[in-house]
Amino acid sequence: MDFFLDTAEVDVIKDLSETGLIDGITTNPSLVAKSGQDFITVLEKIATIVDGPISAEVTAVDTEGMINEGLRLSKIAKNIVVKLPLTLDGLKACVALTNKKISTNVTLCFSSNQALIAAKAGATYISPFIGRLDDIGESGLDLIQDIKSIYSNYNKLNTKILVASVRSLDHVAKSAIIGADTVTLPPKVFMEMYEHELTKKGLDAFLKDWAETKQSIL
Ligand code: G3P
Repeated sequence: MDFFLDTAEVDVIKDLSETGLIDGITTNPSLVAKSGQDFITVLEKIATIVDGPISAEVTAVDTEGMINEGLRLSKIAKNIVVKLPLTLDGLKACVALTNKKISTNVTLCFSSNQALIAAKAGATYISPFIGRLDDIGESGLDLIQDIKSIYSNYNKLNTKILVASVRSLDHVAKSAIIGADTVTLPPKVFMEMYEHELTKKGLDAFLKDWAETKQSIL
């Protein structure tokens, strides 16, 4: 499973990329606004840090505008993935950009049919927002399972499932059990993944016992 970071904070991306565990980045207009940075500059900076896919979202709402913005964004770096909203205009832009061999991430997916039609449009990634579905009393993880089943039925659908709007460790583990291709993690969730109370407790005990042996490995 690929791990993307869901943030536009360059310092955080730099810091966490040093773990060697980050495969790509996703951004959206809200995350860029939160960063307080210029969008193009942020993308240029991220591209100097990360070799993997970097999702950059268009803000036009018409097909032609989305295509033009997508072409502009894709020129920033070879690993830019153009993020398009799941609207009819977005799907048409997805077909056009896919025909130009530009990678796409169709975002704001909340149903199986949306995921199916985005795959039909040739999307490189589909981004189902699972936390926001949970927020309205539905199950985001059920949607991931359904999309996985649908895509598995058809060899021609090569769209990758990019689980987005992740809020918890359970979201991550269950998405991996289902077999989602990629998860985009808020930095806080990424930092919680390796932790377990018993790991810390066990290590403390090992180190205490080792100190009593007065040995050294090197
Ligand atoms: O990748 C999409 C994500 O940023 C949305 O997350 O928590 O705003 O629903 P959230």
